[in-house]
Amino acid sequence: MALKVLTVVGVRPQFIKAAAVSRALREHGGIQEILVHTGQHFDQAMSGVFFEELELPSPAYNLEVNSVSHGAMTGRMLEKLEGVMMRERPDWVLVYGDTNSTVAGALAAAKLHIPVAHVEAGTRSYNRRMAEEINRVVADHVSSLLLCPTQTAVTNLAREGITAGVHHVGDVMYDVAKAAVAKAEARSRILEELQLSRGTYAVATVHRAENTDDPERFARVMAWLSQQGERSPIVMPVHPRTRKLMDSLGLVPKGTRLIEPLGYLDMAWLTHNAAAVFTDSGGLQKEAYFHRVPCVTLRNDTECVETIEAGWNRLWTVADYQPRQEITDIGDGSSSRKVAELLVAPDF
Ligand code: UD1
Repeated sequence: MALKVLTVVGVRPQFIKAAAVSRALREHGGIQEILVHTGQHFDQAMSGVFFEELELPSPAYNLEVNSVSHGAMTGRMLEKLEGVMMRERPDWVLVYGDTNSTVAGALAAAKLHIPVAHVEAGTRSYNRRMAEEINRVVADHVSSLLLCPTQTAVTNLAREGITAGVHHVGDVMYDVAKAAVAKAEARSRILEELQLSRGTYAVATVHRAENTDDPERFARVMAWLSQQGERSPIVMPVHPRTRKLMDSLGLVPKGTRLIEPLGYLDMAWLTHNAAAVFTDSGGLQKEAYFHRVPCVTLRNDTECVETIEAGWNRLWTVADYQPRQEITDIGDGSSSRKVAELLVAPDF
């Protein structure tokens, strides 16, 4: 009988990571995957386009939970996921990253005694005021299989007493980025559409609650971008949350072109050819490094410490980069295959 894996996804970066792992599960054979979309990200630009471009199978369930507060969102997901898990009775529940969808999936499974596998386990910003940090810690502490992107993540877990079921598999996001460059080069027309040439612009994204919940802080981020925009043009794909705020505050940084959120290939190609990345997104900090583009992180701390230590990323509160070097522990683009192998033979 096939091993039954129930995967929970809900937001943009999870569709990207799940696309790589879902393919590896299919290629491995002997695994049946039930894909559950919580509905946290729901429109074509934030969700649909990723399923199409990255050939992620349509979800078996869409729980349609979105646009409510953290507690309400997590609670509704928990209740609906419990129902799905009781019906499907999977051998594993697979969750990704650090979102409300992650923690709801992990908790629902743990309470039903279904083992949880967490991809991107062990990353820490050590800032518990961020919802994502709480989500990471809780998900890790109820997981049986902790699939770490880097050695630092393994060390972080050991500091919290978690050593069983911990595996350093590398970064599944790197698998996707590596495979996407040639495809993006062939298919993406984003540079032509925006009339941009390689190395002449920066890419910016801002959506994290710590920047968007406080209008004063948001104004400071926009002012920082304005300073940069006076030196070289910025392209900013705008998250729906940020769009609402920009509209209500009437704030647009100087030299900045606002565009709609992009699909994966256009975003990869835009990043690949940029001179710099300015972002508060965890995923984009790493992708900047994958494309060897320097990044400034618009946050006071980050869980992507490896990129900081390697001199490819700095916090906006820090004046300069550390000496530049390569990151050697993100894997070779086959991390998704390792995830599939560990689900089949967990080796606790
Ligand atoms: C979530 C994650 C964050 C991750 C990000 C990726 C949590 C706590 N945060 O933040 O870790 O980096 O996803 O993008 O889970 N909206 C739309 N259309 C959509 C999706 C969202 O209009 O398709 C709106 C929502 O209605 C809401 C806002 O955008 O008003 C924010 O969405 P939300 O799901 O709360 O979290 P993100 O900020 O995207």
